[in-house]
Amino acid sequence: MVNVLVVGSGGREHALSWKLSQSSHVDKVYTAPGNGGTENNIPISVDKIDELAAFALENNCFTVVGPEAPLALGIVDKFNEKNLQIFGPTKNAAQLESSKIWAKQFMKRNEIPTAEFEVFDDPKQAYEYVKSISHPVVIKADGLTAGKGVIICDSTQEALVAIDIILVKKTFGDAGNKIIIEERIDGIEASYIALCDVNITIPMASSQDHKRIYDNDRGPNTGGMGAYSPTPIINDSMAEKIQKRIIEKTSSSMKNEGIPFIGFLYAGIMIKNGEPCVLEFNVRMGDPECQPITMRMDFDLYDYLFGAVEGRLSSLPPISWKKQTAVCVVLASKGYPKSYLKNEEIKGLDQKDEATFVFHAGTKKKNNSIFTNGGRVLGVTSLGNTLESAISNAYSATEKISWPNKYCRTDIGKKGLVYR
Ligand code: AMP
Ligand code: GLY
Repeated sequence: MVNVLVVGSGGREHALSWKLSQSSHVDKVYTAPGNGGTENNIPISVDKIDELAAFALENNCFTVVGPEAPLALGIVDKFNEKNLQIFGPTKNAAQLESSKIWAKQFMKRNEIPTAEFEVFDDPKQAYEYVKSISHPVVIKADGLTAGKGVIICDSTQEALVAIDIILVKKTFGDAGNKIIIEERIDGIEASYIALCDVNITIPMASSQDHKRIYDNDRGPNTGGMGAYSPTPIINDSMAEKIQKRIIEKTSSSMKNEGIPFIGFLYAGIMIKNGEPCVLEFNVRMGDPECQPITMRMDFDLYDYLFGAVEGRLSSLPPISWKKQTAVCVVLASKGYPKSYLKNEEIKGLDQKDEATFVFHAGTKKKNNSIFTNGGRVLGVTSLGNTLESAISNAYSATEKISWPNKYCRTDIGKKGLVYR
């Protein structure tokens, strides 16, 4: 038996801890720093790599990293140096997410489909460029910005303002020292996540996120307001295209470039005219996509994460998924992704139903009560025999949970219904 340390504090980490704790090989699951829903919380923040390593050593832990920040800091390299087992990509491999420019150039040289782009560090040259082109653009800060450094522009004027925000006002600090100006592609977006070892990639179930804060995909981008799995947008033939042209190509190209990728490889996909292209890579599970995906896993997640670290994925039996659909509705604090109140007591969490699991994200526990502690607070995740029934189960469950400034989108999953 082994102990597991899950690094992170969001809904994704609660879902990973929940699933890993069901493994027959796992004794105890610790989460650092965790949230109001996770058990065995260890008060070490995700960037304190030496402290995390000392804890993992002392407690005989296999470590699973949830968020991108510690991966970009090199947590995997550090643990490897100390012979500690850890699941995730090295710092070099994490550049697929930590530098959008690195990722775009990697895709270009390896012929992985992605939107046309230019790179700038000089605002004047960037202004000139957007004035000289006629197609709509998306402007992206190079570095990590917790999903906030991407500005979708409807006009040249908006593009000029976006350049100003990132390159001149430095709203995202050094993450905005360079920008990408990318062709805007208007299509249908979905998430495709694969589990990779040095040799093979195993597709996880497909999913679709809902990034904007308001219904019908309006308002600013967020970390994600809800997700469901599987998504009919990625049918078998689309899955095959993505798997071959994007996932396997990325994995083999990384290996050829001497930077083998081990971990969850998440491709944010835009599908236009039946062709998928990559909007972004993430080097970890999606949040909230992880919540509905883990609800549907009919396999021992620990076996596969450990197998990936040991390069043994090809010798493990095929994975299987619950046939049901899972929908995760994120309950957020009103005001998110801008400012919002914290410390509001959450009521109704004790009402359980069989189809639903409530994953915690921005919550904390005080004297056996749960309080809000972040923008995205809970991920109410339900199974159903159809997408409609999973949506209905998830929304019924959300109605039982309350706090004064609770907010959620009312249309999570609706985008998938048109494909019936
Ligand atoms: P990213 O972090 O690069 O995935 O960007 C965040 C969000 O911005 C994506 O999920 C898309 O909704 C949108 N986006 C990014 N790149 C593009 C693009 N080239 N065309 C249209 N939308 C985009
Ligand atoms: N849900 C989008 C992400 O995890 O980046």
